[in-house]
Amino acid sequence: MTEGRTDLCNTIHITIQNIGTFSLQKGESVLSVLKEQKLLGFSHCGGKGTCGRCAVQFIKGAPLPMPADRRRFSPQQLREGWRLACLAKPVMDAEVVFQPPKEKITILTDDAFRSQAAKTASEACGDTLAVIDLGTTTIVMQLLEAGTGRVIDTCRMLNPQRQYGADVISRMEKALAGEGKALADCVSGLLEQGMEKWLAEGFRPKLAVLAGNTVMIHLLLGLDVSKLAKAPFEPVTTARQIWKISGITTVIMPGISAFVGGDIMAGILACQESMQREGIATALLVDLGTNGEMALMHRGEILCTATAAGPAFEGGVTTNVPGADLIHIASDLLHSGLIDETGLIQNEKMRDGIASRGVMIRQEDIRNLQMAKAAVLAGIRVLLQEMDLTPNALQRVYLAGGFGYYLDVDAACAIGVLPMMLHDHVKSVGNAALAGSALYAENLYAQGCDVLQPGQHEKECMDEQAERIRLHAKSINLAEMKAFHAYYVDAMYLQPYDC
Ligand code: FES
Repeated sequence: MTEGRTDLCNTIHITIQNIGTFSLQKGESVLSVLKEQKLLGFSHCGGKGTCGRCAVQFIKGAPLPMPADRRRFSPQQLREGWRLACLAKPVMDAEVVFQPPKEKITILTDDAFRSQAAKTASEACGDTLAVIDLGTTTIVMQLLEAGTGRVIDTCRMLNPQRQYGADVISRMEKALAGEGKALADCVSGLLEQGMEKWLAEGFRPKLAVLAGNTVMIHLLLGLDVSKLAKAPFEPVTTARQIWKISGITTVIMPGISAFVGGDIMAGILACQESMQREGIATALLVDLGTNGEMALMHRGEILCTATAAGPAFEGGVTTNVPGADLIHIASDLLHSGLIDETGLIQNEKMRDGIASRGVMIRQEDIRNLQMAKAAVLAGIRVLLQEMDLTPNALQRVYLAGGFGYYLDVDAACAIGVLPMMLHDHVKSVGNAALAGSALYAENLYAQGCDVLQPGQHEKECMDEQAERIRLHAKSINLAEMKAFHAYYVDAMYLQPYDC
């Protein structure tokens, strides 16, 4: 191979330092080699040049920078050869250095599956139930002892659909481009793998309950997403579905709208049960991830919405710092005057990276956090306004997801993720989708698991309660709300919100 030559035929050679030299067709991106060599498992943006996970440094043969490269890298970095591999299409033989980004989620291998189960199989019991949280990023399967809800086994896996893009939009685009079956098969195959492991160990769940957002459920069931992918965002259905995983009857939790799926329905069921126990009339459920989903519950009425919070709460784009840590760091930086309330890093030289709590934070991370927290706070304000309530009316804020566990409420209120007056009302509830699915499964089990014969009970069962919520809960599209845009701009400042 002659270094730096323009190949007259269509093949180019690309060397990835410490890995090897590979062939690439002209017009193909460097990302295709990274994926082929399994150096990059997934990209947040599906190769659109927005997530930054595929950054490489060209030692030679760097193509001209694209606009997205100019947005992501400083002029100095561009001169040093930094490019986004998904957009880099070399025209001559090239050499790059690639440092795979750190994953923050542990993939449990089959062996991990086994070792977890081995610890619990000896505690074998009577009937069992299965609950599944089908998340965009992670899938969690849990085996429960029926009647007590005791957790026998938990399997946590990355959603294999991530190879088609990290967000639901990219995956719907792939489904519309003809890859719908592959998207469905990779998830159903993984669910079967988990279920079959339990079957092989002698557990045969009486019933499984699966909760996921509306897009995840459409992709799993192979439903048409063409109307879900664009305005006015219409799902084929949000109704409860009966499905089978390795022969086990599986109830797919009903959803509410295109933006508010069965995972939030499950969260609402769990919250309502807790509200009833505590005698609470008004509460807010907030589930923060790539999408910030919220449900305001007030005297039997439910108003929901979802807001595109972007990657900040899942781990900053450039840093992979978990969202809760980023909030803490932003609050520290604000407190020490290293950033101002507009989010600007005060020392110009530090904008490429400012060290705090052992990580480097870039100006871009602060900007992403501002957009995410503005979307959440503005969403909360719109929900309250639509129900004619003020934050003071909220007796409880249920924070769902791992995020809630690690969130420093002082920091979240100091930079205005949550209204200040809610400080003492925040309660972290963990995985609300799993908790609600477990309640639902237990309730159906107590009713004899007759999922095909709803409405045969004296007291409203959870199945009927969910159907009532599906039909009567209101869901609003924030993008269509004028007030949202005004609140959003207002909420971009890093300052307490104290209406
Ligand atoms: S894959 Fe997202 S920026 Fe390249």
